[in-house]
Amino acid sequence: MRRLRRHPASRALVRETRLSADRFVAPLFVRQGKGVREEISSLPGVLRLSPDEAVAASQDLSSLGVPAVLLFGIPDRKDETGSEAWDDGAAVQETVRLLKKSLPELLVITDLCLDEYTSHGHCGVIRGGEVDNDATLPLLARAAVSQARAGADVVAPSDMMDGRVEAIRRGLDGAGLPHVAILAYSAKAASAFYGPFREAAESAPKFGDRRGYQMDPANRREAMREIALDLQEGADAVMIKPALAYLDVIREARERFDAPIAAYNVSGEYAMVKAAAASGWIDEKGIVLEILTGIVRAGADFVLTYHARDAASWLREGL
Ligand code: PBG
Repeated sequence: MRRLRRHPASRALVRETRLSADRFVAPLFVRQGKGVREEISSLPGVLRLSPDEAVAASQDLSSLGVPAVLLFGIPDRKDETGSEAWDDGAAVQETVRLLKKSLPELLVITDLCLDEYTSHGHCGVIRGGEVDNDATLPLLARAAVSQARAGADVVAPSDMMDGRVEAIRRGLDGAGLPHVAILAYSAKAASAFYGPFREAAESAPKFGDRRGYQMDPANRREAMREIALDLQEGADAVMIKPALAYLDVIREARERFDAPIAAYNVSGEYAMVKAAAASGWIDEKGIVLEILTGIVRAGADFVLTYHARDAASWLREGL
């Protein structure tokens, strides 16, 4: 087995998985203002940006070959229903408009969920102390239409309500936006790996947890059912989230479905690498490229990752 490992050129010829910047999507956190660049202590290197700064960051990403960004909004005000999610003047919608004007080659994906926008931090409307599934669907559709009208190419529902893909598809089609695609967070676990994100987005639930709508991390067959349902409802691509503790789910989804599959290398996965690297315990570049290679080898077509910028620039330098 060692003969073809001796020379870098033969290793390159027989390499089965190739990582490239065009498989990455960079998540960005946006909030109103100008010239805002706020650090997030649990996500070193990730910033909350105003729309103008998000454009500058996207220019940089695009010049490094990263084809897409995923926008999360940090609202000015939160309320019971999360109404800023469908406010045409909110930070996400404003950023989308600026990006489509200044960087038409960049694909703009908007995260679609109410948790950042609700005062209670849950992903839907609360009725009788619980997240009401069906009362949430029209609100998601409304937010999707607002994001799509601003120019979003893809909306990405991350709420885990049942039937939301169909409700969003109908909403978009009904609003004359049939060309806007849906990337469904289909198999999204109720995961401790989202901790740093919730600090970044100020979206930790104020009571209870998300286990009544996000998936039990223990269930792989159920993940396949979620994916099948979302595809049936009209999802254009599906996502598995988190990535690292769920590589078997990615692999099985790859074998079962022909649809494009995304994996989300989430905030906690990023924070662990950054913390160990800052302590000098690991080689950050080597670890990051190995992690991303592993996610792609497992079967993901593309990866949403906070490492997108660094990984793209390392790949440009050559391994
Ligand atoms: C919900 C959402 C979350 C993430 C993406 N979309 C948080 C949650 O479900 O609590 C987590 C992303 C990450 O951890 O990087 N809008």
